[in-house]
Amino acid sequence: MQLITSIPLINQLVRSYYMEGLSVGLVPTMGALHEGHLALVRQALAENDRVVVSIFVNPIQFNNAQDLAKYPRTLSQDQVLLEQVGCHVLFCPTEVDMYPAQPRIGMQFEGLDDVLEGAFRPGHFSGVGVVVSKLFHAVMPHRAYFGQKDFQQCLIIRQLVKDLSFPITLRFCPTVRESSGLALSSRNTRLSALARNTQAPLLYQALQLVAQQLAQGHTAALATAQAHQLLAQEPAIQVEYLSVVDTLTLQPVLGGVANPKEVIVCIAAYLEGVRLIDNLWEL
Ligand code: PAF
Repeated sequence: MQLITSIPLINQLVRSYYMEGLSVGLVPTMGALHEGHLALVRQALAENDRVVVSIFVNPIQFNNAQDLAKYPRTLSQDQVLLEQVGCHVLFCPTEVDMYPAQPRIGMQFEGLDDVLEGAFRPGHFSGVGVVVSKLFHAVMPHRAYFGQKDFQQCLIIRQLVKDLSFPITLRFCPTVRESSGLALSSRNTRLSALARNTQAPLLYQALQLVAQQLAQGHTAALATAQAHQLLAQEPAIQVEYLSVVDTLTLQPVLGGVANPKEVIVCIAAYLEGVRLIDNLWEL
């Protein structure tokens, strides 16, 4: 696996791939890789001649300085995992390379970025949009891979690709879970064993409860109220939102749901000061 740390060098390498007629897949990450990331890399390897994984902890998508400072950084371990899985290129740009000066650009995704994550993390999706655009320019992939755990990010990136005409095919891959149901996340490493094994899995149980209730014909309002009751049994969990939203508009749905494919059930909650998110998409 080649390690590349500058934009001009990754550009040059990818141009040489293009000259050879090779297709390129990009898996953008912020490192602290886990099985969820590796599943994206495996899918990218199956669909492209060359796979680039980027690791860059993007400061402009953090609206909380503490969250940025505490974000796990495990580069040497990440390198071993990527070697093992057969990744071709690890692209780790420096902060100066990505942001030689504080960027003045901002991005808005009307209607998509002021709800759910966007409501609680102002500026987050602007930062995601800017960094993903920069990574797309730097790596020029044919295909790019993102996890469905960040479903709102998926919708935002879909809009970005459409609005800016990036010639890139997007692949959104299913969330990988621990056997307890807990969605894999780099942030899970900050949880104690108790929280990780017995408290955090309640988030997934709450989502499943909502899905079951909707399938039985109950309204979304009733279904989420019941899930809140389930979560209230564990005072260590502080729910930020638990919502049923329309898959296209992200607007809240409160009534009955005729077609489960039209909604996403999503949750964000704090546990031991760690912010966790999860969702059920394509119920
Ligand atoms: O999902 C992530 O890890 C990040 O938001 C991304 C897409 C790599 C942009 O920094």
